[in-house]
Amino acid sequence: MPAGPTRRRTAVLISGRGSNLQALIDAAAAPDYPAELVLVLSNRQDAKGLERAEAAGIPTRVVPHRDYETRADFEAAVTEALSEAGAELVCLAGFMRVLTEAFVSRWQGRLVNIHPSLLPAFPGLDTHARALAAGVKLHGCSVHLVSAEVDEGPIIGQAAVPVLPGDDEAALAARVLQAEHRLYPQCLGLLAGDRVRVEDGRAVVQGDWDANGRLLNPDPRSLR
Ligand code: GAR
Repeated sequence: MPAGPTRRRTAVLISGRGSNLQALIDAAAAPDYPAELVLVLSNRQDAKGLERAEAAGIPTRVVPHRDYETRADFEAAVTEALSEAGAELVCLAGFMRVLTEAFVSRWQGRLVNIHPSLLPAFPGLDTHARALAAGVKLHGCSVHLVSAEVDEGPIIGQAAVPVLPGDDEAALAARVLQAEHRLYPQCLGLLAGDRVRVEDGRAVVQGDWDANGRLLNPDPRSLR
């Protein structure tokens, strides 16, 4: 293999479908992407995402949380798998286990999550139903560094989508998921490329950042 630029060794933790994992796999296929995926770990044997990893030739591990008496024991097994793989960064991609403070602080600054809402709105579960119930006109997703509180931590990036009249939960979820697939590879690229600094608890992205897009809902043109 020709020597290329160093790519950050990255593990992805999943629990299910793995469509965000697929977006990361696709991004990491580009030789100049600053992260390489070295492990996909699932707490569920039946996670569909494991097949995506296998198809891409990425090593997989299953660490079933039910096999462990305590959360700490489960996380010790996860930590062992991550260090065996030489992981430097960890992406949570639909990983549906709450992590302890000890695990989070061990990975501080190197552990990222994608959440299907514009945080700090709608942390937790059922974000799309809650967004519809609240009547918000913009919804979306956030990629953030993980801190000890669930769905908190410095936000690296967000993508917004409109909530359209007639949306149900499935339609809104599908629109947000498309945005997730664009946002996560972009944010992991920034982190792996060493372009994210945390200042006063907030993530600051260094260098050029395409902030030209403005999203308004309702679109002013619709008001004419
Ligand atoms: C994604 O929508 C992700 O944002 C969400 O689970 C889904 C996983 O889909 N994560 C959370 O809700 C975490 N709190 P995927 O397995 O197809 O990537």
